[in-house]
Amino acid sequence: MSENPKRGHFAQEKGEIILREHEFDGIQEFDQKLPNWWLFTFYAAIAWFVGYWFLYYGIAALQSPQQVVQEQILAVQAAQLKELNKTLATLDDSKLVHEWAANPTAVAAGQTTFSKNCIPCHGVDLSATQDDGTGRKSVLPGLPLTDHQWKFTNKPMGLFNLINKGSPPESTGNNGAKMEAWGQKLTPVEIAQVLSYIISKVPEDFKDIPKPAAK
Ligand code: HEC
Repeated sequence: MSENPKRGHFAQEKGEIILREHEFDGIQEFDQKLPNWWLFTFYAAIAWFVGYWFLYYGIAALQSPQQVVQEQILAVQAAQLKELNKTLATLDDSKLVHEWAANPTAVAAGQTTFSKNCIPCHGVDLSATQDDGTGRKSVLPGLPLTDHQWKFTNKPMGLFNLINKGSPPESTGNNGAKMEAWGQKLTPVEIAQVLSYIISKVPEDFKDIPKPAAK
């Protein structure tokens, strides 16, 4: 230090050089008055915190980003459920087989949905195999849908549920592979359409489903 700085008390004016009373291994510490802009920012931050704290926790006027996202998720889930219930109210086994799967528009829409989502595991021809280009077939993770065997249910509404909710909880999967709940990605109508497409490929499996009662 050039001058003989005062020690042991606090700086009172700007530019005053004060050294704190402690010294460790020859290292000393200035005690300067903090600039006003710094102090102002510091106090403003405290005032901001008090206001913010009050709005968040005092009267809960503000929502955390997490709460906002959670509410949006709940809203989406509620809308999905409403949509599902609306579609389910108009669906049953016989309507799926004799109206939906007999409707070329629904079947074509179902084929599009199938191509976009289901081919990687169930194959282009629904056989759950894929031609590897040399004429040999490699096996895909899904189950064949045209082998006339239905692992869980052969009832159209049961299959609707299976596609909507994915593998049942008790399923150990196909060689360990389970199917996801497509209701998260597809609308109920799209599920009914994709199922119509599957039914239209193996109508003989559903020939015992009676026609809808005449109105
Ligand atoms: C990532 C692979 C994968 C994709 C993609 C996939 N599935 Fe599956 N699917 C499976 C597996 C695995 C099973 C067997 C599930 C089990 O045993 O728990 C299955 C089972 C099924 C079954 C029951 C078959 C039976 O014999 O009972 C149907 C129906 C079905 N899937 C339809 C679909 C439809 C429709 C799509 C497209 C929207 C689709 N899957 C997309 C893997 C997939």
